Amino acid sequence: METKARVAIVTGAAKGIGRAIAISLAKNGVIPVIADIDHENAKLAVEEIAQTGVAAVSYMVDVSSVEQITRMVEDVAQQFGHIDILVNNAGVLSKASIEELNETEWDRVMNINLKSAMFASQQVLKHMVQQGWGRIINIASMAGRMGGFSTGCAYSTSKAAIIGMTMCIARKVAKNNITVNAIAPGPTETELVKGFTAEELKNLEDSILVGRLGKPENIAETVAFLASDAASFITGAVIDVNGGMFMG
Ligand SMILES: NC(=O)c1ccc[n+]([C@@H]2O[C@H](COP(=O)([O-])OP(=O)(O)OC[C@H]3O[C@@H](n4cnc5c(N)ncnc54)[C@H](O)[C@@H]3O)[C@@H](O)[C@H]2O)c1
Repeated sequence: METKARVAIVTGAAKGIGRAIAISLAKNGVIPVIADIDHENAKLAVEEIAQTGVAAVSYMVDVSSVEQITRMVEDVAQQFGHIDILVNNAGVLSKASIEELNETEWDRVMNINLKSAMFASQQVLKHMVQQGWGRIINIASMAGRMGGFSTGCAYSTSKAAIIGMTMCIARKVAKNNITVNAIAPGPTETELVKGFTAEELKNLEDSILVGRLGKPENIAETVAFLASDAASFITGAVIDVNGGMFMG
């Protein structure tokens, strides 16, 4: 009997780390759903993934809207009949200082980086619990582990909170054969780090023991492992992928 390919929703997969995650999952035979607000780049990601022989799909969604997340999960479940993996990757950088920070910026960062992950998890868990198998992987940040160097408090707090949320959900669903883990990347070569000045980037790079920024593939391969059957005994964990910049 043929086994059905697993389906993974990857938020923020039109570019950067999310795109590399979708490609890496596809190389492992998983069908990625590219869930992103940037539909043009999402379509390009689907084309790139087609080269692996896997037909990915794109879904235009603003993950800060619980209504849009709920609709997306329902549509994906209807299309494929199952949702096996969720990677909560969509995120935005915020460098607002304590003096500059206002309510709008705080809410923007929390809604995209944190609220989205809670409610996407809530929605996919309905299917995973029923299936008796699932993987949720949250992309946190080194900033959530040690306060961050050049990031503002809204960003660092959202990333620390997603680690707490990872452990909480992991506890609730472990008995259902569902694992929930977080990855905390250090500075990684994507458009997001263009938010740092040349001096900030140089300082960050100088503190990375292996002597270079991370590559999106370094994060993506860790996700592919956590999403696999081989990682069935890892749950509630935070995996640091940062070239030795921070050791917790
Ligand atoms: N690049 C780094 O140095 C670094 C380090 C640590 C953690 N991270 C985390 O990794 C994740 C990916 O970051 P990246 O570096 O690839 O960033 P990126 O800016 O290259 O990509 C982010 C993706 O998220 C999408 N996105 C943004 N807001 C969205 C929304 N409201 N709804 C749906 N999609 C949305 C964007 O369209 C984009 O495709 C983020 O959570 C980020 O905080 C990045």
